[in-house]
Formats: sequence, C-alpha cells, structure tokens
Amino acid sequence: MILQIVVWLSSILCSAQVFSRPVTCQLQRSRVEKSRGLLHTMGGHFPAECCLGDVVAIAAPTAAFRSNGTKRNAGVERAVYHTLTSIDFLFGNDTVPVSWDGRTVEDFQNIVYRQIDESKCVSSRPDFKDRRRLLGLYFDRLASVLQEKEFSACAWEVVRRELLQTLKFILNNTLGHLFWARRRRNFH
Ligand SMILES: *[C@@H]1O[C@H](CO)[C@@H](O)[C@H](O)[C@H]1NC(C)=O
Ligand SMILES: *[C@@H]1O[C@H](CO)[C@@H](O)[C@H](O)[C@H]1NC(C)=O
Ligand SMILES: *[C@@H]1O[C@H](CO)[C@@H](O)[C@H](O)[C@H]1NC(C)=O
Repeated sequence: MILQIVVWLSSILCSAQVFSRPVTCQLQRSRVEKSRGLLHTMGGHFPAECCLGDVVAIAAPTAAFRSNGTKRNAGVERAVYHTLTSIDFLFGNDTVPVSWDGRTVEDFQNIVYRQIDESKCVSSRPDFKDRRRLLGLYFDRLASVLQEKEFSACAWEVVRRELLQTLKFILNNTLGHLFWARRRRNFH
C-alpha cells in the first residue's frame, strides 16, 4: 500500500516534469550515484562473520560494460539498464535483513524503479546478446546465493557488497559515455 502511494506520487512528479522539459529516455548518472550511496548507507560495514568461503568467488561481469568503440555505446547503456532491472528483481521480494535501515531501502528501491520506468526505451537498444549472457550469469549467481542461504543476513551482505562494486565499476568506467542524460543547462 505504501509502495503504491509512493509510486503514484512519483508518477505525478514525473508528469509534472514532462511539462518543464522535453521528454527524454536517458539514464541519469546522478541517479546511479545516488542509488549506490543509498545502498552503501542502508547497512553497516561488511561483517567479518559473513565471509562465507563458498560464495566469495563470484566473477564480476566487467566485460558486459566494455565499450565497443562507438561513441554512444548503446550496448553498454543497455547493460547498465539491465543491471538496474536485475537489482530491482533481487530486491523485489522484500527479504532484506531487518537490521538494514528500512527507509533507506525503500528510497533505494524507489530511485532504481524510477530510473527503469523512465528509461524503458533503452531496453530496445541493439548489440546486447553477449552482455546479457554475462549479466544473466552474474545475477543468477547472486539470486542463488540468496536462495541457498535462505535470504540470511550474511547472504544479503554478500549481495550488497557485490552490487556496490558493480555500480562503482559502472560509474568508474562510463564517465565519458554519451548515453547519460546531459545536465540541464541554466540559461540566464
Ligand atoms: C558497436 O555496436 C554497434 C551497434 O550498437 C555496431 O554497429 C558497431 O559495429 C559495433 N562496433 C564494434 C567496434 O564492434
Ligand atoms: C521472489 O519470489 C518468487 C516467487 O516465490 C520467485 O520466483 C523469485 O525467484 C523470487 N525472487 C528472488 C530474487 O528471490
Ligand atoms: C573505482 O575507482 C576508484 C578510484 O579510482 C578505485 O579506488 C576503485 O577501486 C574503483 N572501483 C571499481 C569497482 O572499479
């Protein structure tokens, strides 16, 4: 119920924005940064007791974000979009540890969802097959860590640590890419 209200309110805000600027369908780097910040603050430090020996070897999907030499990097853009939808899916069943800050978790889910919802057209960009395969393997692995450990706090800490690194990797490696929405200029 609460989530419905939030989504409803945010869709009003979005339609209000539509009047003040042209409709775009672009990922916003600032939102990915903000999501990462919320993911960081929703829990504490990685607990030492969560170094589960058998789940540490999760290969990072870095190649999915490798530029293919074009200026726009549509494949990378779609890989970032797919990452956001996969994160949305992981958080979808509300199984995160009760020790995490509920309000921050909610803000995080809302900003991820809003970015996905406002950039739907990105999911039709071409050049994605190999990237999708890599991301599929990675996120399937994260989902099975959660399921194997029955959504334990430690399993979630492992997943959170992974997602923090993946978002950081995206931010580190896509700085000059043209697909990000450009900042609105203020004309005086
Ligand atoms: C990069 O991807 C685009 C399609 O998005 C394709 O047209 C282009 O040939 C690719 N470039 C390289 C170097 O693979
Ligand atoms: C959420 O629950 C559904 C239905 O039980 C399940 O199919 C899905 O895999 C779950 N998602 C995650 C990320 O565990
Ligand atoms: C991102 O860049 C920072 C600063 O250069 C570096 O310390 C960090 O290891 C990088 N992280 C990833 C996941 O690439």
